[in-house]
Amino acid sequence: MVRKCIFPVAGYGTRFLPATKSMPKEMLTVVNKPLVQYGVEEALAAGMTDIGFVTGRGKRAIHDHFDISYELEHQIAGTSREARLAGIREVIEKGKFSSTRQKSMKGLGHAILTGELLVGNEPFGVILADDLCFGEGASVMQQLLDVHNYYGQSVVAIQEVPEDQISKFGVIDGTEIEPGLYRVSGMVEKPNPEDAPSNLAIIGRYILTPDIFDILRNTPPGANGEVQITDALLTQAKKGRVLALKFKGRRFDCGSVDGFVEATNFVYQNLYLKDKQ
Ligand code: G1P
Repeated sequence: MVRKCIFPVAGYGTRFLPATKSMPKEMLTVVNKPLVQYGVEEALAAGMTDIGFVTGRGKRAIHDHFDISYELEHQIAGTSREARLAGIREVIEKGKFSSTRQKSMKGLGHAILTGELLVGNEPFGVILADDLCFGEGASVMQQLLDVHNYYGQSVVAIQEVPEDQISKFGVIDGTEIEPGLYRVSGMVEKPNPEDAPSNLAIIGRYILTPDIFDILRNTPPGANGEVQITDALLTQAKKGRVLALKFKGRRFDCGSVDGFVEATNFVYQNLYLKDKQ
């Protein structure tokens, strides 16, 4: 059973300056919900009720968002506006929230290792809230969980990306063992297109087995001088212990302005307007 999910949320979001000068990038709003809430809802829907934020300075708004706002509740109690709080109230009720600080930004691997305190010795999910995902049939995290529950190994979500995009991602090499499911044999973080082992890019959803922490402790900085989760996963992969799932659904790169606008249009058309009907 996977109960815990880590959200690395310490990053600065410089691509959205000045919007992110004093506001966490994870609180940027896609239509009427902050990015991070979509991610937390995805974790909760997969039964991951213990939500752990690996935060940094200036991220208080995230903590406040997942807590009751008594003054606001009091103000709008009994009015038609109350319904707009129903979703977040449910999230707060279902989830248990904790956080720890990443004192310096040394990469995603370092952020996940910092989260060890919140996880302990059990398999756990990781969601990068910048990658906004809408699964088909089931959420992307649920799709990974189904694979993990069967194989008991680390699982990463992947999608095919065009060659000119490949250097933005961790990229896998592997053998397809079931339709859309790969046993990973190699992984490389942000390769040049000519060195990429495939066009299968890792996107921000992972389920990791807890031995990853010891591996991370011994993983030297890699691409960009940062401790990379991709490098740590490669150590597991060499033992045949990592799977990659081509998930069913859509993913938007909300860490970029273009992806963010696309996501906004998608949510408005497909979720918001439909909910209103
Ligand atoms: C991180 C990971 C990378 C992955 C990507 C998905 O990179 O290091 O392997 O492909 O997320 O969004 P970042 O986007 O933080 O540079």
